[in-house]
Amino acid sequence: MKIVAINGSPRKNGNTTLCLEAVRKEVEAAGVEFQVFQPGANVHPCLACYHCLDNGTLRCIQTDDMVNDIIAACIDADGILLASPVYHGGIAGSMKCVLDRLMLAAGCGDNQLHHKVGGALCTLRRSGGMETYQQLLGTMDAMEMIIVTSDYWGAVHGAEKGECVQDTEGMEVAAKLGRNMAWTVKALAAAKETLPPPETHARTMTNFVR
Ligand SMILES: Cc1cc2nc3c(=O)[nH]c(=O)nc-3n(C[C@H](O)[C@H](O)[C@H](O)COP(=O)(O)O)c2cc1C
Repeated sequence: MKIVAINGSPRKNGNTTLCLEAVRKEVEAAGVEFQVFQPGANVHPCLACYHCLDNGTLRCIQTDDMVNDIIAACIDADGILLASPVYHGGIAGSMKCVLDRLMLAAGCGDNQLHHKVGGALCTLRRSGGMETYQQLLGTMDAMEMIIVTSDYWGAVHGAEKGECVQDTEGMEVAAKLGRNMAWTVKALAAAKETLPPPETHARTMTNFVR
């Protein structure tokens, strides 16, 4: 069993990393593998070429960054954790680049993400936490994923690198999210034999034209 996390911060060893390490501790203690991808600033936006969707490749045609590795890992994973700093009231640009391509390639056609466990966290100095947390959740709740929460919204405060550890409550929210995600992943795996997941099928896209 595995949970894959995407760290949308371009900053190495920053607050988002520290939050994910708090999650890692809980997830691994529960016997679930945890892998973090941090593409940094070297990540391209979606080209809207629709090659992935039209051809069902489950890959992006842009191959010179980490996104195809992230897509493959997410398809393989039991759970996906999206973690991003707040940038001007929303997710960081690199996170947006990853999510646009991941969701289009792996979620919008033959949905490979459905029934996977999802969770979200954001880090911030002061404002925009709720919007960013909801934005991260919003990408997953359109993919038929099973959203798991903590005991408060996933927003951990800190500006300079390392400051988030002073947000005791926020770090506890991250740790509890890790515990809850690991437990849900295990519970779903245990239930699979006796309770198979419900049938699902590709969306009928009507584009608001009728
Ligand atoms: C371009 C930029 C925009 C930011 N915008 C916000 C913001 O809107 N609200 C906020 O509270 N913090 C904002 N911050 C602060 C970061 O969210 C905060 O420092 C966060 O902890 C960074 O996480 P990291 O260390 O993982 O990179 C911004 C930082 C940068 C670099």
